[in-house]
Amino acid sequence: MNKEFIKVLQEGKVGIIQFNRPKALHALNRQMVDEIVGQLKSFDQDDRIRVILLMGDERAFAAGADIDEMMDDTPLTLEFLDPFAIWDEISNVKKPTIAAVNGFALGGGFELALHCDLIIGAENAQFGFPEVKLGVMPGAGGTQFLTKAMGRRKALEWIWLGEPMSAQEALHYGVINRIVAPELVEEEAMRLANQLAEQAPISLRLIKEAVYAAEDQPVREGKKLERKNFYLSFASHDQKEGMQAFKEKRLPSFKGV
Ligand code: CAA
Repeated sequence: MNKEFIKVLQEGKVGIIQFNRPKALHALNRQMVDEIVGQLKSFDQDDRIRVILLMGDERAFAAGADIDEMMDDTPLTLEFLDPFAIWDEISNVKKPTIAAVNGFALGGGFELALHCDLIIGAENAQFGFPEVKLGVMPGAGGTQFLTKAMGRRKALEWIWLGEPMSAQEALHYGVINRIVAPELVEEEAMRLANQLAEQAPISLRLIKEAVYAAEDQPVREGKKLERKNFYLSFASHDQKEGMQAFKEKRLPSFKGV
């Protein structure tokens, strides 16, 4: 299952994508992004998988898009190839995605983490958009995700200055979920993933859709979607099981149907 730039693993109900370009700090070349997106889609379709974890290694989550690959691009090569369009497919993943970040999450690496639903950061993790120092700007969603997370003023300050943000700052601004010691990042991410993997998959899926709608739609429309999703959850076996288990004072066993 491994590809050239990623390792693919499964632990219980958790699908793991581990970046595997350590010499370049997992800089994201286009093939690597293709492999990551392809594997995300494959896990999303795989009934054995309930949660997806993305991780790098102890030095880096990913240090950005591959500068060597893009330095000779022109507006037209970029326009025709449209290399960032494929990133939209990450947002179409229906299962929970978690980024476990050790070390650097810069540029496209930060954008990849921001595409995930939850982010666990090591105490020494560094998040940032250094693109301004290369004479460019974030191109795979960074300006949008960071502004949604921390508001316009702070997002502008970080992206304009291009300085790395500490894990503590990222937590303070609501950009990441949790901080743990570097050696515990994987363990904590797996713990969280396993906890989510025991929830009713249909609930997680419908909740994800409704929460993301809150970012893109007016409240009235979002509430309509929320209601419909609530009603839809009653089509599932897991709703019957969840409520029955409550009545019988036992833990539910969710099947994902
Ligand atoms: N692209 C290509 N290669 C990269 C890379 C990147 N984004 N980041 C690191 N590397 C390579 C380095 O060139 C180096 O390769 P060599 O050993 O062959 O020289 C190797 O990874 C190790 O890196 P360093 O020696 O630089 O390691 P360091 O510990 O001294 O510094 C760092 C680490 C601060 C992360 C530094 O590597 C760095 O600044 N990297 C670039 C970060 C960056 O600018 N990212 C944004 C890219 S643009 C983008 O992402 C656009 C977008 O929106 C999608």
